[in-house]
Amino acid sequence: MSAETLSAQAPSSIERAADLLRGGGLVGMPTETVYGLAANAADPDAVARLYEAKGRPRFNPLIAHVSDLAMAERLARFSPLARRLADAFWPGPLTLVLPKQPDAPICDLANAGLDSVALRAPAHPAARALIAAFGQPLVAPSANPSGAISPTTAQHVLEGLGPKIDAVIDGGACPVGVESTVVAVDGERATLLRPGGLARQDIEAITGPLARAGETDAPTSPGMLKSHYAPNAALRMAATEAGPDEVLLGFGTIHGTLNLSPTGDLAEAATGLFAALRQLDALGAKTIAVAPIPDEGLGEAINDRLRRAAAPRDDIAIQP
Ligand code: TXA
Ligand code: MG
Repeated sequence: MSAETLSAQAPSSIERAADLLRGGGLVGMPTETVYGLAANAADPDAVARLYEAKGRPRFNPLIAHVSDLAMAERLARFSPLARRLADAFWPGPLTLVLPKQPDAPICDLANAGLDSVALRAPAHPAARALIAAFGQPLVAPSANPSGAISPTTAQHVLEGLGPKIDAVIDGGACPVGVESTVVAVDGERATLLRPGGLARQDIEAITGPLARAGETDAPTSPGMLKSHYAPNAALRMAATEAGPDEVLLGFGTIHGTLNLSPTGDLAEAATGLFAALRQLDALGAKTIAVAPIPDEGLGEAINDRLRRAAAPRDDIAIQP
């Protein structure tokens, strides 16, 4: 059996997807960052199926996707700083890791039994419509087999997980292109767990300098494995030209088989990053060499994903 493709434009699609979720189904959902694989956060059988479909280790907790702060507050306690961040950046590509409410309407498997929970209100209209129609939080990891490149189109979702899921809502290509920025907030202290689609300096305008995961007693994220987002090909960073058996992914004035952004625009580079890695991988080169990407703005998230794609594949040590 293969997944139904539902058009994001048709109102009946959202109802159909919500029905599948009520029945314990798994639905590919477009968000502004990447496609997520949605399931009912409160349904342990559906969430178990979701881990199974992705081949995801069960110690790696999921993000609960909510409509707004009101739905989020049923799941987690918001400090004044956490509320300021949600007010400033939701809906959008920011995930907040917060203390879980004891009676939060999510199953233990969804947050790996931790006393914290990750929350995000996505901005994509189809994701918003689906959460509203469902009326309850949806867990949604990126809709790729664990360790592989995240999907930014419905076609990518079907290629990776087609036979294992019930449907995918086709909402076109994701505009941001890299996953959300994950920030843990403990009272008035904020720690960056994963750089992502919201740039550090935007967050620091509200929080001041972010602590780094692993620093002193700062929290860490169980999902930050060193090897992740991996194409079949090996990956080499900061390349200025292609060596033998390599294809070059360019940026700015360094041109290759593809160029992430000839004008050197980091937002454009993030949008096309995962699709470009897939496209170059399909050419069958041994190694994808990638031009240097400045480590500022969205470049921090791009370089994070490239480093993990370049990491040795048998290394699943948890990154500090
Ligand atoms: O943009 C995104 O965040 C996408 C879209 C679909 O929303 N989702 C996504 O989910 O990237 P996933 O599961 O691939 O990544 C979630 C990250 C993982 O690194 C996980 O370990 C971390 O969030 N996380 C979740 N709950 C956590 C918790 N309670 N404490 C620390 N880290 C947590
Ligand atoms: Mg992921």
